[in-house]
Amino acid sequence: MDWKGRDVISIRDFSKEDVEFVLSVAERLEEELAKKGSLDYARGKILATLFFEPSTRTRLSFESAMHRLGGSVIGFSSASSTSVKKGESLADTIKTVEQYGDVIVIRHPMEGAARLAAEVAEVPVINAGDGSNQHPTQTLLDLYTIKRTFGRIDGLTIGLLGDLKYGRTVHSLAEALAFYDVELYLISPELLRMPKHIVDDLREKGLTVHETTDLEGTIPELDVLYVTRIQRERFPDEEEYLKVKGSYQVNLSTLKNAKESLKVMHPLPRVDEIHPEVDKSGHALYFRQVFSGVPVRMALLGLTLGVLEGV
Ligand code: NCD
Repeated sequence: MDWKGRDVISIRDFSKEDVEFVLSVAERLEEELAKKGSLDYARGKILATLFFEPSTRTRLSFESAMHRLGGSVIGFSSASSTSVKKGESLADTIKTVEQYGDVIVIRHPMEGAARLAAEVAEVPVINAGDGSNQHPTQTLLDLYTIKRTFGRIDGLTIGLLGDLKYGRTVHSLAEALAFYDVELYLISPELLRMPKHIVDDLREKGLTVHETTDLEGTIPELDVLYVTRIQRERFPDEEEYLKVKGSYQVNLSTLKNAKESLKVMHPLPRVDEIHPEVDKSGHALYFRQVFSGVPVRMALLGLTLGVLEGV
């Protein structure tokens, strides 16, 4: 598969080979970066970051990744300072930005916004989250982190906990895990279950999927517990949010029956779903995920720009 010019919109657009290829390129870049301090594959190239929604890690790790590749960055972190405020359409914004940059990273509250941007743009577009739909680059860094930690993904029992209805990270991750031989526990309040079409699709692909509300009973089974924040901003009404607010909290007492090797993951930001006392335990893997964001996004930028010959 030729990666130059390719868009990264949904995990569904990728094969298992594509995913494994990105992870292997990220690993080589991580090693090379550690050796040399900085790289220059993307010298002269410009990344445009268009963030219509708040972000800390995704935007800054994309920017860091581009700088570490020797390229430069333009962009905005809030639409309120742009002509969108004056009523400019997304299509016109994209048609403008592609004159200034060689690759676009976009985060937008609307499902399908990244796909629309990719249809309009000649340059590659990377989806940094579209509404509650997809967050494919987070998924790639999640898989990278699991693989680097366990040495494999096959054979693991993985629990996804929290807001499985509105959480885009878990939608992408569940779909990607279908490439592997894993057993999946979907743990959520009734109101926040994983959309049925995703669960059906996972089962059709041969995955063993359990749906449950019982965190404590499930913990002893797990190798990985992937925790998510309740996505307050996606609830159509505050009353619904209040019903599920604080449904789960992972703390040292919740983890007392866990395997010693259990790893707790979280895309961050966390609100109250993982107590900070877990941070110093051997279970915490969420800051390692933050670290993985840079090599994985370096790989995606380098591949879509077509500048990584020889890596
Ligand atoms: C996530 C997101 O934006 O979907 N954050 C991230 O990119 N690491 C998770 C969240 O906001 O809960």
